[in-house]
Amino acid sequence: MTTIQAPRGTRDILPQDQVLWEHLVDFCKLRANQFGYLPITIPTFEETGLFERSIGESTDILEKELFIVSNRNSAESDRYALRPEATAGIVRAFVEHGLHTLPQPVKLYNILNNFRYERPQKGRYRELWQFDLEIIGEKSPLADCWCILTGYQLFQSLGLTEVELQLNSLGLLEERTEFLSALRDYLEPRKDQLSEDSKRRLDSNPLRILDSKDPQDQALLKDAPKLLDFFGPVSQSHFEQVKKTLDLWKIPYHLNPHLVRGLDYYCHTTFEWYLPGEGGSQSALGGGGRYDGLLPQLNGPDLGAVGQALGLDRIFNALDAKGYKLAHTNNPELFLIPADEAGLQHILQILPELTWLTNPRVDWSFEKVGVGNLLKKALKLEAEAVLIIGSAEIEKGKYQLKWLQTGEQEEVTLDELKAKF
Ligand code: HAM
Repeated sequence: MTTIQAPRGTRDILPQDQVLWEHLVDFCKLRANQFGYLPITIPTFEETGLFERSIGESTDILEKELFIVSNRNSAESDRYALRPEATAGIVRAFVEHGLHTLPQPVKLYNILNNFRYERPQKGRYRELWQFDLEIIGEKSPLADCWCILTGYQLFQSLGLTEVELQLNSLGLLEERTEFLSALRDYLEPRKDQLSEDSKRRLDSNPLRILDSKDPQDQALLKDAPKLLDFFGPVSQSHFEQVKKTLDLWKIPYHLNPHLVRGLDYYCHTTFEWYLPGEGGSQSALGGGGRYDGLLPQLNGPDLGAVGQALGLDRIFNALDAKGYKLAHTNNPELFLIPADEAGLQHILQILPELTWLTNPRVDWSFEKVGVGNLLKKALKLEAEAVLIIGSAEIEKGKYQLKWLQTGEQEEVTLDELKAKF
C-alpha cells in the first residue's frame, strides 16, 4: 500500500515552524490595524466568472492555474473555482454589500490561503498564503503611497531591510491600447525572434511580453515603443505624485518599465517587492497596484481602488533563511514533580487552580518515577522552574521551588507561588 503524502505544492507547517508563522501572521494583523484596515473574510471558492471578469481570461492564472471546483453529481462542472487571490472576492463583496455607503475609502485586509495550479518549486506553491490589503473608494495617488508605506514598513520592521521596491505605471486603458498596437506593429515583423511564450502572447496578452525573462525577448524590447511615451497629463501627474511622495517618505524604489503584473485589472501604479539577488518572479515577496476599472467591471461604483498582496510563504522562507528563529513557547514555566504518592495526589488537587491562571504555563508528571528522573525531564523540556511536592512539603504547607537556570531554590506557599509568575 502506498503512503499518502501532502498534495504537490502544498505544505504542512509543523509545530516547530508555527512559532515563526504565527508571529508573522500576528505581525501582519498588527500592521493592518495600525494603518486602519478592517478584516474581511471571503469564500474559498467563487463563481469562475468573477475571476474571468477581474483577473482576465488570457492571464496565466485563468488559462493554466485555476482550480475548478466540481461536485460529482452536479452538471455545473466549471461554475466555481478556488480563489487564486483575494482582490476579486473582496471587490465582489464590497459591491454586493454596498460598502460604498460607508465613509470612503474603505480599508480591508485578510490573511488567507489561495490556490494556483503552478509548477511547484521552492517559493512557488499551489496553496499559497497572502496578506492582502485593499484601499477601496479613493482615486488619489496618495492612496497608492499609503498602501506602499504599509508594505515598506512591514518589511523594515520584520528586519527584511534589503527588500527592494520596483515601481511602474501602466497608465490608463486607452493609453495602453494605443501603446499595445504600436508594440504589436514593432514586434510582428520580428515575431520569429521571439520566444515561444511571447509569440503566443503577441495575440493573447502582448503586455506580458514586457516582463519576459527570455534574453532574446529582452534584447528585442530595448528599441520597442515605451508605454510612458503614450501617457497623457492625468497618468503623468498621477505617477509624478506617487514618486514625489515616496521620495518625501524616503522610500527607495527602482523604476521598472517592464513591471506589468500577471493580472489584468491594473491601471496607473504597479509595484512589486523583491529580495535582491534572487532572479525570477518566484522571488517577489509581494505586489500590487491601482485597479480603478475593477469596481465598475463588477457593476460597482466608479470609486477607485488600490491594494497589494504580500506572499506569506515567501516572507516566511526569507525570515527562516536569515535564521530568524523564535523561542519555542511551549516549554513549561513551571513543571510539577511529585516526590511520592501523597505528592501526586496533592498535585492533582492544586492543578486546576494553577492552570486557571494565564501564568505560569504548567506541565506535570503523570507518574512518580523519582525526583531525579523528573528533574532531568524538566531540563529537557527547558522548564523555567520545578515545584517539588511530597509528604514533607504538604505537612509544612510549603513547596520546594527550584529555578533551573540559576539553581536557586526556595520554599513557597501556593499563594506565594502564584505571585511569582
Ligand atoms: P500576485 O502578484 O499574483 O498579486 O501575488 C502577490 C504575491 O503572492 C506574490 O508577490 C508572491 O509573493 C505571492 N505568490 C503568488 N503566487 C504564489 C505561489 N504560487 N506561491 C507562493 N507565493 C505566491 C495578487 O495576488 C494581487 N491580488 C495583489 C493585489 C492586491 N493587487 C491589488 N490588490
